[in-house]
Amino acid sequence: MVNAVRGTKDILPEEIPLWYFVEKTLRQVSSLFGFKEIRTPIFEKTEVFLRSIGAETDIVNKEMYTFFDRGGDSITLRPEMTAPVVRAVIQNNLLAYDSLLRLWYYGPLFRYERPQKGRLRQFHQYGAELIGSSEPEADAEIILLAKEIVERLGIAEYKLLLNSIGNKASRQQYKQQLILYFEKYADCLSNESRERLKKNPLRILDSKDERDLEIIKNCPKIYDYFDKESIEHYNRTKELLALNNINFQETPLLVRGLDYYTHTVFEFQSPLLGAQDSFGGGGRYNELFSEFGFKKEVPAIGFAFGIERILLILESQHSISYEESPYTYIAYNKPEFLPRVYELARLLRKNNIPTLFDMQKKSLKAQMKDANKYGVKFVIIIGDDEMKNNTITIKDMEKSLQNTYTSEKGIETILNSYLPNEDN
Ligand code: HAM
Repeated sequence: MVNAVRGTKDILPEEIPLWYFVEKTLRQVSSLFGFKEIRTPIFEKTEVFLRSIGAETDIVNKEMYTFFDRGGDSITLRPEMTAPVVRAVIQNNLLAYDSLLRLWYYGPLFRYERPQKGRLRQFHQYGAELIGSSEPEADAEIILLAKEIVERLGIAEYKLLLNSIGNKASRQQYKQQLILYFEKYADCLSNESRERLKKNPLRILDSKDERDLEIIKNCPKIYDYFDKESIEHYNRTKELLALNNINFQETPLLVRGLDYYTHTVFEFQSPLLGAQDSFGGGGRYNELFSEFGFKKEVPAIGFAFGIERILLILESQHSISYEESPYTYIAYNKPEFLPRVYELARLLRKNNIPTLFDMQKKSLKAQMKDANKYGVKFVIIIGDDEMKNNTITIKDMEKSLQNTYTSEKGIETILNSYLPNEDN
C-alpha cells in the first residue's frame, strides 16, 4: 500500500461542498471590493522567494521544497504567493495599465513544516494584494475585505490582532536596541532565540518559550522608535478601522514570519483552532518591489487566509448547512426502455436538473432502494404502462406522492419544483 506524503491530505467528495461554499464566498467578496483574480505557476525560480521572504526566515531556512530541474535551474514549489504575484506584476507590466492593482489568488502552497492539526505540507491559501497605494486608506480597505470574508463565512469566534513595525529606518533603530537588550540576557534565552539574536532579532518577539517570554516582557517597545511617518501611518490606520467599527487588539509583539513587511501587520486568530490558531495574516510591504529590482517604489499591502484552518473552524462550529441540489432518479424496469431514459436524462440535465439512472441492470426494486440512498427529490418511473402510453410516473419522495403525467407535463412539473439555484 502506498500512502500519501506526510502532511498532505486527500479532500474527499463529502468534504467538497464546504470547500465550494468557502470558495464561492471568497470569489463573491473579492468582486464586491473590485479585486480581480490572478493565477501564477505553482513553482518559481528559487530566487523569487530568496529575494523576498528573507534569508533568515523559517520558510527560507528550512521549509522550502527546492530542487534542481533537469536543466539545472533551482526551482521552488511556492511557499507563499505574495512574491510570485509581485514577480508577475513586474514581468507583465501590469502597473503600466493601472497604477492601483486589486488582485486576489487562490491555490495550493508547500512548506516543509512539522505536520499537526491545522499545519500541513501542502495547504491552500486565498490572498488579496492591493498594490500601488501607500495611504492608510489602503490598509483599511484590505482589512475591511478580510473582515467581510470572515463574517460571510460565519466565523463566530475570532480576534484581529494589529500592529505596526514602522518603516525601514525606524525598524533598523529598533533592531539595534533589541540586540543591545537581548544580548544582556543571551545566556537565558532559548536556543532558537539565541540563534535569532544573531540573524533576525525581531523574530525573538514571536517566541512561545516561557523563559523567553519573561525576558521579552520588559524589552524595548517598537512604538518608542517610530519616526513621524511611522506614527502617522499607524494612527490613521487605527482611526479608519475605528470609523468602520472594526474591533482589533493592538499587539506590539506581533511581528509575523516574513521579512518583507513594513508598517501595518495583522493576524486573524481563533480559539477554535488550538495551537495553530492563526487562520490569516498579512501586512504592508512597501519595499518588496525594490527588492525585485523594480525601478520605482511601489507601496502595497495584502493578506492571506489558510483555507484548511478556516474549514477546521467552520467544522467545529457545526453552523454551516450547505445543501446541494437534490437529484432526480429515473427508474426503469427493462433494458429496452433505455432510449427513453436517455431522452429524459438529456432533457433534465439540459435544464440543470441533476439526474441519475441505473447503469447496472438492477431490478426496479433495487433502483428504488438506490434512489432512497441518494436522497433524491423525485423518482421518474418508466414501466410497461408508461412506455405504452408515452407517460411518466413521478414519485415525489419528500411528499410521498405518486402521479402519472404525459411526458411534457411531467417534466414541466419537475422543472417548476426545483428552486432556481446557480449551483444546480
Ligand atoms: P502567512 O502568515 O505565512 O502569510 O500565511 C497565511 C496563512 O496561511 C496563515 O495564517 C495560516 O492560516 C496559513 N498557513 C500557513 N502555513 C500553513 C501550513 N503549513 N498549513 C496550513 N495553513 C498554513 C503569508 O503567506 C503572506 N504571503 C500573507 C500576505 C499576503 N502578506 C501580504 N500579502
